[in-house]
Amino acid sequence: MPSPFLSCLLCLRREREKVKVPPFALNRGGKSPASSSDSDFQVQSRENLKDRNIKSGPETTTTVLEIPDRLDHNHNHNTLPKWNPALVVEREGKGDGKGKNTYRIIENYPYPTLESDDEVIISNRAVGLNPIDWKSVDFNFCLPEFPWITGREMAGVVDAIGANVKDFKVGDRVWTSTYYRDRRAGCFQHYVTVPQHTVNHVPDNLDFASAACLGVAGLTAAMTLWKWLEVAVPPPCPPQSQSQPATGTVTTTLSLRTSATSTTPFTEPPGEAADFLLIWGGSAVTAQFAIQIAVLSGLQVIAVASEKTKSLVSGLGATHVVTRDGKTNSEIVAEVRRVGGDSITRGLDLVGTETATYCLQAMSQTRPSLFAPLAMIPSKAVIPDNIRVQTVEMKQFVLNPDCGVYARQLNHLVCDGLLVMPSTHVLDGGLKSIQAGLDRLKSGDMAGKKLVVSMTM
Ligand SMILES: NC(=O)c1ccc[n+]([C@@H]2O[C@H](COP(=O)([O-])OP(=O)(O)OC[C@H]3O[C@@H](n4cnc5c(N)ncnc54)[C@H](OP(=O)(O)O)[C@@H]3O)[C@@H](O)[C@H]2O)c1
Repeated sequence: MPSPFLSCLLCLRREREKVKVPPFALNRGGKSPASSSDSDFQVQSRENLKDRNIKSGPETTTTVLEIPDRLDHNHNHNTLPKWNPALVVEREGKGDGKGKNTYRIIENYPYPTLESDDEVIISNRAVGLNPIDWKSVDFNFCLPEFPWITGREMAGVVDAIGANVKDFKVGDRVWTSTYYRDRRAGCFQHYVTVPQHTVNHVPDNLDFASAACLGVAGLTAAMTLWKWLEVAVPPPCPPQSQSQPATGTVTTTLSLRTSATSTTPFTEPPGEAADFLLIWGGSAVTAQFAIQIAVLSGLQVIAVASEKTKSLVSGLGATHVVTRDGKTNSEIVAEVRRVGGDSITRGLDLVGTETATYCLQAMSQTRPSLFAPLAMIPSKAVIPDNIRVQTVEMKQFVLNPDCGVYARQLNHLVCDGLLVMPSTHVLDGGLKSIQAGLDRLKSGDMAGKKLVVSMTM
């Protein structure tokens, strides 16, 4: 007969095992045992674009698991369950490579456990949708096992904290950016568990929907420029009431290492402040942050965008917008070079492998330059000796706590009103709307708007 303490531990272990490999395929279509009371969610989209009648994707099924026993936070049994509804990705087929991935909502997915004293559990209020979310499911990558929970950015309210967490308390409004390798950190669930260094307060001037854009587009732009493109950080801003104090300063060393893809060692900085940054895909949500951050740092920005988004892109501060409608990529390159000459010492592609290659042709042909292909680059691309191609690894934000400084610096810019946030297009309906939202992102042209799902039930 195990002691009560051991028995409790055994139950806790069983509970944790349930979190990692939940039982499946029970009670399809049953009713939810719990409902969220997230009444404080207020979406104030700038253009007030709300889809209140969005239909769930036809393939999203709903399941209620049979989980006979629960432990509360004090490890007591038979308390009212606190569930964690989740959108899980499952694999159809028998591992013969012919199956496809499908979504299912599990209403009573187990509430997560804190596995370290440095973790924070966040109650989800808004989740940002990104191309990687549907790409990883359609092309079956970044899914360590099945079932899995995806979703990379969210904003919400702190629900529980580990013993070492001092900067946040239950009830704080926060946003985070997550790494796909921890199922508890997938943002398509009601409670998201992340390390404290990835958590930031939501600036007072943002609602949850806007804050949900910071974790991928905002942070990718900030880290790409400040860390990988070695752009100087704008001068520090005075601390804000809700923002975290800048406990570190991002220093762009401009120390020039030998490029992994180049044979020429860099002997001078990749660019002076007056040089140009080329952004191909200037209306992409990530680009909207990147344009503004670059301009704040004194760079001139040449952006490639369509006619319909030209005014948006120039309004954000791009010095020159080269429209792409009716032009070949070679014609666009020629136009870009007419503007920037040989002074385009930094490049950022947000479109795809083809445009990444054309970016290389448009950039400086003689000066040390840095290029970040955020939407891939062909493995056989010919890299000029003067250009170093930077691999942007956003996982560093989660794996390396020192990178927390980039999020804090981004937060300061937002707090100080120095960044115009992307227009959000908010879908109501919580988990039920995510699959339809991702389909829309895949097929539709969002014309610079960010798709966000409100997680309010
Ligand atoms: N590595 C990372 O960690 C990371 C992080 C963030 C994003 N990304 C990648 O970056 C890309 C952009 O993401 P996002 O969420 O910012 O995109 P998004 O907001 O969905 O924007 C896509 C934009 O691409 C533009 N576009 C489409 N075809 C184009 C073309 N042929 N030439 C120029 N522009 C074109 C469209 O603008 P116009 O029609 O106005 O031209 C559209 O606004 C995605 O591939 C994403 O996976 C990677």
